[in-house]
Amino acid sequence: MGSFKNFIFTLTLYLLRGATASLIQLNNNGYENIIIAIDQNLPEDDKLIQHIKDMVSEASNYLYEATEKRFYFKGVSILIPKTWQTKPDYEKPKLETYNNADIFIEVPNPPGNDGPRTQQMGCGEMGERIYLTPDVILGKKLNEYGPPGKILVHEWAHLRWGVFEEYNEAEPFYKLNGKNVPVKCSEAITGTNKVTLCSGGSCSTRSCRTDPKTGKFQTGCVFIPDRIQTEKSSIMFMQSIDSVVEFCRKENHNKDAPNAQNQKCNLRSTWEVIQDSEDYKTSTPMTAAQPPKPSFSLKQIRERILCLVLDKSGSMASGDRLNRLKQASKLFLLQIVEKGSWVGMITFDSAATIQSDLVQIETDAQRNTLITKLPGVASGGTSICSGLRAAFTSIRKKFSTDGAEIVLLTDGEDNTIRTCFDEVRQSGAIIHTVALGPSADKALEELSKMTGGLQTAATDNAQNNGLIDAFSALSSGNGMITQRSIQLESKGATLKDGEWMNGTIIVDSTIGNDTLFLVTWTTKQPQMFVSDPSGKAYTTFSVDTNSKMAHLQIPDTAKVGIWTYNLKSSAQTLTLTVTSRAANPTIPPITVDSKMNKDTSNFPNPMVVYAEVRQGSLPIIGATVTALIESADGTTVTLELLDNGAGADASKNDGVYSRYFTAYKTNGRYSLKVRALGGTNTQRSRPQVNGALYIPGWVENGEVKMNPPRPEFNVNDLQGKQVCFSRTSSGGSFVATNIPSGSIQDVFPPCQITDLKAQMEGDRINLTWTAPGDDYDYGRAQQYIIRISESILDLRDKFDDALQVNTTDLIPEEANSQEFFMFEPKDINLVNGTNIYIAIQAVDKANLKSKLSNIAQVSVFIPPEETPCTGSHIFKIVLKWLGELQLTIPK
Ligand SMILES: *[C@@H]1O[C@H](CO)[C@@H](O)[C@H](O)[C@H]1NC(C)=O
Ligand SMILES: *[C@@H]1O[C@H](CO)[C@@H](O)[C@H](O)[C@H]1NC(C)=O
Ligand SMILES: *[C@@H]1O[C@H](CO)[C@@H](O)[C@H](O)[C@H]1NC(C)=O
Ligand SMILES: *[C@@H]1O[C@H](CO)[C@@H](O)[C@H](O)[C@H]1NC(C)=O
Ligand SMILES: *[C@@H]1O[C@H](CO)[C@@H](O)[C@H](O)[C@H]1NC(C)=O
Repeated sequence: MGSFKNFIFTLTLYLLRGATASLIQLNNNGYENIIIAIDQNLPEDDKLIQHIKDMVSEASNYLYEATEKRFYFKGVSILIPKTWQTKPDYEKPKLETYNNADIFIEVPNPPGNDGPRTQQMGCGEMGERIYLTPDVILGKKLNEYGPPGKILVHEWAHLRWGVFEEYNEAEPFYKLNGKNVPVKCSEAITGTNKVTLCSGGSCSTRSCRTDPKTGKFQTGCVFIPDRIQTEKSSIMFMQSIDSVVEFCRKENHNKDAPNAQNQKCNLRSTWEVIQDSEDYKTSTPMTAAQPPKPSFSLKQIRERILCLVLDKSGSMASGDRLNRLKQASKLFLLQIVEKGSWVGMITFDSAATIQSDLVQIETDAQRNTLITKLPGVASGGTSICSGLRAAFTSIRKKFSTDGAEIVLLTDGEDNTIRTCFDEVRQSGAIIHTVALGPSADKALEELSKMTGGLQTAATDNAQNNGLIDAFSALSSGNGMITQRSIQLESKGATLKDGEWMNGTIIVDSTIGNDTLFLVTWTTKQPQMFVSDPSGKAYTTFSVDTNSKMAHLQIPDTAKVGIWTYNLKSSAQTLTLTVTSRAANPTIPPITVDSKMNKDTSNFPNPMVVYAEVRQGSLPIIGATVTALIESADGTTVTLELLDNGAGADASKNDGVYSRYFTAYKTNGRYSLKVRALGGTNTQRSRPQVNGALYIPGWVENGEVKMNPPRPEFNVNDLQGKQVCFSRTSSGGSFVATNIPSGSIQDVFPPCQITDLKAQMEGDRINLTWTAPGDDYDYGRAQQYIIRISESILDLRDKFDDALQVNTTDLIPEEANSQEFFMFEPKDINLVNGTNIYIAIQAVDKANLKSKLSNIAQVSVFIPPEETPCTGSHIFKIVLKWLGELQLTIPK
C-alpha cells in the first residue's frame, strides 16, 4: 500500500443511508429499535457485547437526567458479525442491517484513533450514524474522553437532535473585552490555560503567553479543566467532567464563544435546539427517579435471502417496460446479487406465480436458470398483495421471513395494496420498491418506508437508464464492501442512424474484479467495441437478441487505466452500464453513495442532495460530483454538488458533497443519480472529527496532569496522492407534492451564509464568505445587507435596527464564489478590547431575504506603545529593515 502503511482501511459498509433508513422510534419516552452494529473486521470478543450493554444502560440514566426525565434508551439490537461463533441466544435479524445501523463499532483507523464521532447534517437535523471504537466502549479511554455512557449521550445529541460542539479545537480561545478566554460552555467551568512545548525530545508544560503583536495566546495553548467542578454544564462541551450532567441552557449558554453550536444554531443553546425537536414536542416528562432498564437483543448476520416480485400485468406491455424489466433483472441476477445469497422469483398480475423457490447462488448456471424464469408476456390486472404473499409462502418453505428481502417492481395502481400492510409488518421482511412509469401505485413507498427498504423509481425514458440503476443499487445491506457491486458508468443516448456513442471509463486500482459491460438497445443490435488501456480490443459480447441486450465480462482483474467504448447505432436508444468489484480483499474500493435529505418534499421547501465519496473511512475530496435529478415526465436537472462547507453543505472537505434542489417540474416521483469523477485535484483526506472532545489534561489537587498527546496522523502521507476514478450511484427516489401548475414564480430566497469570517486589518474589518445564490445556492443574489453591533444579541434579534455598513460597491458574485469585503467601521467605538459583531443577509431580485448569516466577530486590539511612534522612530525601523535586507543579499 506504499505510503498508506499508516492506515488500516475499514472494510465494512460506509453508506449514506436513505432518508428514512433509521428504524428508531420514540415510544413513551423510550428510544426503541436502536441498532448497534459491530464491524465484521473486529475479532470476536464477548466482553465487547457486555460492555455495549453496560454503556447503553449507563447512558440511559444520564440521558434521563440530562433531559429532565424525558428520554431514555428502551430497546437496542446488537448486530453481531457473521464470522463470530453462533450462540444459542443470538437471534436472526429482522429489519436490522448494517446499512441502517445507528451506532457502528469500528476498527480504529488509523490504529490508536479512538475519537468518537457522529456524521451529522445541519442544525436540528437528524444525523447519519455514530462511530465508536472498542477501546472507548471497554472503558480504556476514561481520561481522554470520559465514561462510555456519557460519551454515548454526547454523540446521541449530535445524532438525534442535530446539536453541535461547544468546543473549538482549531481555535480554543477567543477575545472578549480584550482578554483571551477559552471557548467553553458554560462559562462557569473552571480550569487553567497551558501550552506544552517540546525541544530536543523533552517537553514541558507552561502557562500560555500572549503574542504582543496580535494580543492572542501563542499557538498550542489549550484549556485544562479542573477535575473537581461544581458546574453541571455541558455535555456538548466536556461530558467527561464528573459533575457535568446537563446540556447548556439559555441561561448559562455562552453565546459569544465561536464554536460550531453558535455558528450553526444561531447562538442558541443546545438545550433550546433539543426543545425544538419533534421528540421533545411530542413527549412529556416522566416522574420515576430512574428510567426503566433498556432491553437488548443480540442478532447475528445470516446469509442474504432475496425474492424478486415482478409485475407482469397488462400495463407492463406498454413502452417496452417488460423488456426493460428483463434487462435490469438480468443484470441484477448476473452481476449484482452476491455469491452465496438465496434468490427466488415471483411474477404477478391479478394473481401470483412462484417462478422459482429460493436457490443458493453458487454457479453461473444457477444465475442463468433464474434468468430464464423472467416474465415473457404481459397481461392481466395488478395485485401487489398476491405477489407479496406468494413470496412469503415461497421463502417460508426454507426459512422464516425475518430479515428476508423482497424486491417489488410494479407499474400499476392497485387499490387493494393496503390490505396486506399488516402481514408485511408482521413478516419481518425488508421490502425494496421499484416504481416503474408514472402510474405506479402512490402507496408503494409506504412498503419500503415501514420495512426500512430502499425506494427507487424509473421513468419510461429508457435513455436515462433508471431501471438498470434501480436494480444496480440493490447490493446487500450486510455484505462486506469488497463484495459489493460498484457502478462505474451508467448512461444512455437516443441516436440517429450511423451515429456513435463513444466514451471512456477509468478503472482505478481499488476495483477491477468481475467487471462487466452491459449494452441495451431498443431496435437493432449496435456494433460494439471495448478496449483496455493498452489498446487490446474485447469483442466477445454475449448477446441476447430477445431481450435486446449484450454483456461483456472482463476476465480476471481489469487493467488499471482508461478503457474506451465505441457503439455504432441505428436510429434508436442505447444504454451502457459498467460495474465492477473490489480488486483486493483488504483494500476497500472507492465508493459513492447518494441520497436526498427527505423522501417527500412539500413545495416550496427545498430538498438537499447529498453524495458521499470515500474509500473506507477516508473521505475523498476534490472530486467532480454531479447529481442528475429526473422528474416523472423524464426530464433531467443537473446539479454540481460541492463540499465547500457553504449553502447546503454542512462541513467542508468531509467527502460529503451537497446542494439544494429547487428546480421542481411536476408533482410526483423524482429519482436521483450521482456521477463522481476523480482527477488531478482529487485526494484522500483524514476522517473528520466531529464528536466528544479529546481532553488534553486535568487539573487535580492544583496539579496539572497532561494526557498523552492524541495520536496524530501524518496527513503528508495523504497529500499529493491523486485519485482518478469514475463512479455512478443511484440515490433512490422522492415524491414532490403541492407544486403549483403553470409557471412557478420565485419563492426561493438566497440560502443562509454559514461561513462568514471577519478579521481586523489595521482599523478596517476584512470579511470573507461564500456567495449564496438567487435561489438558495443557485444563481446570483441581487445585494447584501451587512450590519454590525457591539452586542451579539442585538445583532441577532434586532438585525434591522443595527448599524448598517455601506455596501453600495459590493456586487454579489455567482453562487459558491468566494466573496471578500473590506470596510472601515464607522459610528462605532473602536476602543482597545471592544468586540464588534458582524452579520450579513443576501437579498434576491424578488426582494426575498436569506436567513441571517452566522455572526462573525473581531476584537479591537491596539498593541502597547513601547516607544512613541515618532518620525525618527519609524526612520530607525526602516533603517533596520534595510540593514536586514543587505544582510540577506548573497555575496
Ligand atoms: C467514435 O469512435 C469511432 C471509432 O473509433 C469513430 O470512427 C467515430 O468518429 C467516433 N465518433 C465520435 C462522435 O466521436
Ligand atoms: C480479485 O481477483 C484476484 C485475482 O483473481 C484475487 O486474487 C482477489 O482476491 C480478488 N479480490 C477480491 C476482493 O475478491
Ligand atoms: C482578507 O482576508 C482574506 C482571507 O483571510 C485574505 O486572503 C485577504 O488577503 C485579506 N485582505 C486584506 C486586504 O488583508
Ligand atoms: C455609500 O458608498 C457610495 C459609493 O462609495 C457613495 O456614493 C454613497 O454616498 C455612500 N452612501 C452613504 C449613505 O454614505
Ligand atoms: C490593549 O489591550 C491589551 C489587552 O488588554 C493590552 O495588552 C494592550 O497593551 C492594550 N493596548 C494599549 C495601547 O493600551
